[in-house]
Amino acid sequence: MIDDIRAARQAAIEQIRAAISVDELKRLSAELGSKRSTLGQLKSRLGSLKALEERRAAGQVHHEAMADVSAEGLRRRTELAAGERAARVEAEQLDLTEILERPRRGHAHIVTQAWERLEDVFVGFGFEVAEGPEVETDWHNFEALNMAAGHPARSDFDTLFVEHPGAPAGTTVLRTHTSPVQIRTMLAKPPPIYIVAPGRVFRRDTPDASHMPVFHQIEGLVVDRSITLAHLAGTIEAFTKAFFGTGFTSRLRPSYFPFTEPSGEFDIRTPSGEWLELGGCGMVHPDVLRAGGIDPDEWSGFAFGFGIDRMARERHAVSDLREMFTGDIRFGEQF
Ligand code: DAH
Repeated sequence: MIDDIRAARQAAIEQIRAAISVDELKRLSAELGSKRSTLGQLKSRLGSLKALEERRAAGQVHHEAMADVSAEGLRRRTELAAGERAARVEAEQLDLTEILERPRRGHAHIVTQAWERLEDVFVGFGFEVAEGPEVETDWHNFEALNMAAGHPARSDFDTLFVEHPGAPAGTTVLRTHTSPVQIRTMLAKPPPIYIVAPGRVFRRDTPDASHMPVFHQIEGLVVDRSITLAHLAGTIEAFTKAFFGTGFTSRLRPSYFPFTEPSGEFDIRTPSGEWLELGGCGMVHPDVLRAGGIDPDEWSGFAFGFGIDRMARERHAVSDLREMFTGDIRFGEQF
């Protein structure tokens, strides 16, 4: 009898060890604990043993066998549950290797970079950033800037006209420069005015290595009491050093623009002694102040304007301006 109990115990423990899932083990444990199991049947046969000593000894062995089987069941159950949890965690894990291995962070286009750096420098000088529409009236783009219809300076601007319902033909243009923002700013708020206006401008040009029909300029306008040419020259010089570096200097050369009097062009000198032409500037013409609703006897001002794309192109030594606008990711990734 005792041998039978020991054999049944061993068989039960082996079955438990062979169980491969918590579910299977649960079913098995119920089965092993029932009266129909070998150990269950052996238990009911204990009562039929006649000798008390023998009954007691066999009962003791049976009790221990049941305890061992139950302990083994618990051990195996813990083991299987841990394995199943690990497998579930593994299966639910997101595969992030692609993201982790290839960090792809974009950056602004080189024109945007130049645009933002320009804004930063002028905001550092105390200027505000102003804006105007890209589709302009002939009046803001030309007339208010001292270029009446038929003015010869208009021929410098290869204008693109757009149809605008309600407006006479030929009076709505894609702005050819950022200078109309001068007029809009003066009409919008009283002096003192210290603004820069970066933006997109349009001219009827055939694209080549140094021309695009769409490009970018930044305009500057200062209107205050007793503003002189010295303020203009000082601002250009301070800008040159702040933007390009202390090794650079600037100069003004006489020139002509209808909206400034006197007018100039400004160049910067690189540390290696080379001169680069940057843009136009001058003292705001009294007629332009009047068009902006400002009394030229009380106020005076200076203005300047230059191309942004060219600065980005110089800085990164791009040989062909058109490259900058193809949208080819391989171009952008170089900077
Ligand atoms: N608007 C001029 C152009 O597009 C540039 C310019 C020249 C702007 C002189 C100014 C200025 O404000 O004073 O060629």
